[in-house]
Amino acid sequence: MATTTVPGPVTQQKLEELSEIQESGAVSLFVNYEQSLGNYMLDVDGNRFLDVYTQISSLPLGYNHPDLLALLDDPVNIKLFINRPALGTFPGHDWTDRLRSSLLQVAPTGLNNLCTMSCGSCSNENAYKAIYMWYRTKERGGRLEFTEEELQTCMVNQTPGCPTYTLLSFKGAFHGRTMGCLATTHSKAIHKIDIPSLDWPIADFPKYMYPLEEHTTHNEHEDNRCLEQVESLIHTYNKAGNTVAGIVIEPIQSEGGDNHASPQFFQRLQQLAKTTGTALLIDEVQTGGGPTGKMWCHEHFNLQEPPDIVTFSKKMLTGGYYCKKEFRPNQGYRIYNTWMGDPSKVVMLQEVIKVIERDNLLHMATQSGDVLFKGLRTLDQKFPQHINSVRGRGTFVAFDAGNTAKRDAIIGRLKLQGIHAGGCGDKSVRLRPSLIFQPHHAHIFVEKLETVLNTL
Ligand SMILES: Cc1ncc(COP(=O)(O)O)c(C=O)c1O
Repeated sequence: MATTTVPGPVTQQKLEELSEIQESGAVSLFVNYEQSLGNYMLDVDGNRFLDVYTQISSLPLGYNHPDLLALLDDPVNIKLFINRPALGTFPGHDWTDRLRSSLLQVAPTGLNNLCTMSCGSCSNENAYKAIYMWYRTKERGGRLEFTEEELQTCMVNQTPGCPTYTLLSFKGAFHGRTMGCLATTHSKAIHKIDIPSLDWPIADFPKYMYPLEEHTTHNEHEDNRCLEQVESLIHTYNKAGNTVAGIVIEPIQSEGGDNHASPQFFQRLQQLAKTTGTALLIDEVQTGGGPTGKMWCHEHFNLQEPPDIVTFSKKMLTGGYYCKKEFRPNQGYRIYNTWMGDPSKVVMLQEVIKVIERDNLLHMATQSGDVLFKGLRTLDQKFPQHINSVRGRGTFVAFDAGNTAKRDAIIGRLKLQGIHAGGCGDKSVRLRPSLIFQPHHAHIFVEKLETVLNTL
């Protein structure tokens, strides 16, 4: 239970101070990171929350995990933490080994090329560039040299140096807030307003009805409708000379409201990408790293072959992307920035992967997710006037409240009950606990939610 109002007086005081020097409209709580532990986050007012949102889904092992703290006992690691290299040019002697024993260890099947970046947006932004380079190389028939005209025109943002390629994305998608990513982000107007953008194709994402088993006809119809739209948009844009070079999609649309699509939808989308010659990028920034019970959510889809590119960040601690070999640029500096990630994050990831394996955490995500799912289904039957549409994979679970005000009331009252959950879309509550979230934590969540629903 919270011991003050939430936000409490200390958070409010600190917020006032911060607001004097920067815009702080998104600040929710000031946190005591020294004393937060495991699944529990402590705020500066002394309120202790079971955290099922975990820094917007980005803490793989909760707070102050002992195995991560122990990394700092090793002087080699301390030097890695303070000497941040420009990795694209001056990697350390063991960088390749570290990549092999971390990111490559858990790479999606068939994707053994890799690029590290710092955050989700720059991972997508650079993966988009990789798609364009791949497409252009294909159009050149594999010729690697550029023409003089291409070299001149690219300097002034004109064709043929800067081709009029596009990327197809989906309504409700979130791929980040940088300029290229923003052109493929369509979850909330506040992210996009006032920013010039690109006329790229945007298809509907299926809108399913729940429970799935009671709405198979509607949901299959949604798959068909959206895939027909994808095909028709590719055709229209290609015909107009705005060639669709790639399709970008989240395996579960997260910020946009935890919208799911079936394995068949993804299989057919991949097929469509193949037949139209476009690349398929799966954005696993939020879904990757284990919360769905598999390391990568797209592993649930039984795709015929690996996606062309998979981007990651959040629970993976470093950003970046995996890709097929043909998506590597053919020269240095084409995909590049100063840091290209951070070795300290990769050291932490090595440890996280060991802990995931040692403690069987993917299995635990499935088990804890089961408890959440069943508990929530019981509650949506008991309180149909308040919540519905329970959905999820592993602990990556969400449900809807009737409207935004009710959703916000549920999240607010959960805080008073000592539960920190998040929202997404306009009326959904999303659960994003870390991988150390156990079935008994799931029971606590369900119990507290029931208390809240009884008060509405
Ligand atoms: C699916 C997805 N892609 C990209 C991003 C952008 O990541 P970042 O906020 O690290 O730039 C997010 C962030 O929430 C995300 O959920």
